[in-house]
Amino acid sequence: MASRSSQAPGDMLGGMEPKLVTVPEALQEKVYSTERVGISKATHDAHLGLWKGYANKTNEIRGLLAKGAGEGANQIFSTMRALKVNYAFAYGGYINHSVYFNTIGGSGGPATGAVADLIKASYGSFEAWLEDWKATGMAGRGWAFLAYDHEEKRVHNYIGDSQDTWPTWNNTLLLAMDVYEHAYYLDFQSARAKYIDAYVQVIDWDAVNARVPK
Ligand SMILES: [Fe+2]
Repeated sequence: MASRSSQAPGDMLGGMEPKLVTVPEALQEKVYSTERVGISKATHDAHLGLWKGYANKTNEIRGLLAKGAGEGANQIFSTMRALKVNYAFAYGGYINHSVYFNTIGGSGGPATGAVADLIKASYGSFEAWLEDWKATGMAGRGWAFLAYDHEEKRVHNYIGDSQDTWPTWNNTLLLAMDVYEHAYYLDFQSARAKYIDAYVQVIDWDAVNARVPK
């Protein structure tokens, strides 16, 4: 606030109210159809609580930034640093889970539509992509991401080690597979490979195609 001496505490920066994300209250019914492959309702309901947490923290940080948090900004420790670093974690977690829950609860099987063509162009075949996708999921500490790279106009399977790690700019996230243990431990204990085998049987390719840039 010191840099804006005329600003009263609590004033919004530039008079702007923070834009807030929608806090998810429930999962789409289709998500619960994953019980057929062993990913349980209990897992999803607990997971929804985590997704809500990312949404609430995103909004909390946006609110604090809107009030002005730049005083004493410092790379070692400062309010600004804490808010900005954790903003990427909070909003990243919100988006990652939005895509995760939006793209499961389908019938799985080989990809369809535009994403099938993109996968074939980049990986040669769906089977080759699937092998890479499963290995990416085993190698990641938090996520496997299928994303469309606008620079090269092709798709790639990325590892996301955390909510806020993203390898390159200018990608559109198409599919996000949560491989944190909270996504599967209740159902598969530490057998992540079994969870991934189950997950790929419930991908909603129509929902993935709806995310492909036109
Ligand atoms: Fe998660």
